[in-house]
Amino acid sequence: MTAGGALIRDMILKDLAEVAAMERDIFPDPWTEDMFREALTLNKSVNLVADDGDGSLCGYLCAQAVADEIQIHNVAVATTHRRQGIGRALLEYAEKQGGENGAVCAILEVRITNTAALAMYGQMGYRRIGRRRAYYRKPVCDALVLLKVFDGAPAEETKQDAT
Ligand SMILES: CC(C)(COP(=O)(O)OP(=O)(O)OC[C@H]1O[C@@H](n2cnc3c(N)ncnc32)[C@H](O)[C@@H]1OP(=O)(O)O)[C@@H](O)C(=O)NCCC(=O)NCCS
Repeated sequence: MTAGGALIRDMILKDLAEVAAMERDIFPDPWTEDMFREALTLNKSVNLVADDGDGSLCGYLCAQAVADEIQIHNVAVATTHRRQGIGRALLEYAEKQGGENGAVCAILEVRITNTAALAMYGQMGYRRIGRRRAYYRKPVCDALVLLKVFDGAPAEETKQDAT
């Protein structure tokens, strides 16, 4: 899969330093390189990068299939490469891999103030199912919990809006 000229591919060990550097640039409370390394070892994990083909990375995503869900833990795109469809492509690829492994839905948390991410998730069919007070640090902020039920999957009562 490609988006904005970038190829979406599996994250490998040699990507980790670059991914962690991007993470530090983007997030106030970043994952460390060791946290990304651990993500690669998780059972049924989906770890992706967007590779711009000239030797550098411009985005990444970490997720894990748990029971019938794919849990999206981290997704980001370099500021220089935003609004080119790369975030969307990373998520679509993860949803596809999750679906192929039996996931019927994707679930994630997002800062209530993160308008860009909320716009992307909303456009992609994610719906709010909950709110976690003071879930984030630096700065402290509530999280919204969003769920996307994949086409053809039944929406269970436990996955309806609980707020
Ligand atoms: C959120 C993020 C991953 C989006 O990545 P992206 O590659 O720029 O997003 P896309 O180009 O795939 O956008 C898909 C759609 O999302 C919406 N969208 C994305 N960014 C938006 C913005 N800044 N404002 C409004 N809508 C936006 C649009 O509907 C867009 O479609 P369009 O460009 O055709 O209008 C990126 O802004 C980012 O890395 N932010 C910092 C990290 C972060 O917040 N991660 C999410 C944590 S939960």
